[in-house]
Amino acid sequence: MLDIIDVHKTFFKGEVNEKKALSGVSFKLEHGDFVTVIGGNGAGKSTLLNCVAGVHIPESGKIILEDQDITNTPEYLRAGRIARVFQDPLRGTAASMTLEENLVMALKRGQKRGFRKAIKEKERQLFRERLAVLNLGLENRLKDKVGLLSGGQRQALTLLMATLQKPKLLLLDEHTAALDPQTANKVMELTQWLVKEFKLTTLMVTHNMEQALKYGNRIIMMDDGSIILDLRDDKKEKLTVGKLMEHFAKTGKGSLNNDRMLLSKWANAC
Ligand SMILES: Nc1ncnc2c1ncn2[C@@H]1O[C@H](COP(=O)(O)OP(=O)(O)OP(=O)(O)O)[C@@H](O)[C@H]1O
Ligand SMILES: [Mg+2]
Repeated sequence: MLDIIDVHKTFFKGEVNEKKALSGVSFKLEHGDFVTVIGGNGAGKSTLLNCVAGVHIPESGKIILEDQDITNTPEYLRAGRIARVFQDPLRGTAASMTLEENLVMALKRGQKRGFRKAIKEKERQLFRERLAVLNLGLENRLKDKVGLLSGGQRQALTLLMATLQKPKLLLLDEHTAALDPQTANKVMELTQWLVKEFKLTTLMVTHNMEQALKYGNRIIMMDDGSIILDLRDDKKEKLTVGKLMEHFAKTGKGSLNNDRMLLSKWANAC
């Protein structure tokens, strides 16, 4: 359903600080694939997601979504089909708007904006149902401003908003990295539930190797702008953190010790 063909992306091309972020990345996603993406700092993980989302346009290669070439399609025209959640809980929601105002915007994602109509009771019912799944009591706080929520509650809401209108593709870029370990687990459980319930095709970048092994049916390891490992199903099941490190030591050029990998180890030890 998503076909990435030999994608190259260079920042500051021709300048002294030229940086090749993606060097010929190719892979195909099947419908319902839940792929975890790992790699060290600067490996090109976010750039890859940004190229898929249309934030960056690659200088060569192709990106095909459901038989349509979207390589040069602007980001706003992809937004109806591609949903994304970032690391920063403050990015996905509008703090000064209420929960239901945020949710109604998510429901209308990708549609032409007309005059804002009043929120219908049927929509409110849907929001309450979905929020109840989070088990955070948010279903009774539809009229509260989002700015009043904690980081974890806000990230859970962002995830719910991203999937309210089923996207063709869900992109998650370290969406639990800014949360404490317990809240991160809750948000991961919600992610797992949403992916399964709505059969979402998902690309999830994580700095956490255990998380990358636990979730999804496929794992991709990136290093220095390239894919150096791509395993699915039973091959992925057999992987361990040790084997991942071993593979990286043999094949990788950069360092797998991502700042956030180190930080999460430190946080878990405390
Ligand atoms: N907008 C940009 N402008 C210039 N250089 C960029 C930009 N985005 C990324 N880069 C560079 O491209 C390389 C790949 O960065 P990218 O953010 O994709 O890495 P990453 O794998 O997501 O790393 P991290 O784990 O630190 O998030 C890095 O050298 C980075 O500095
Ligand atoms: Mg990144």
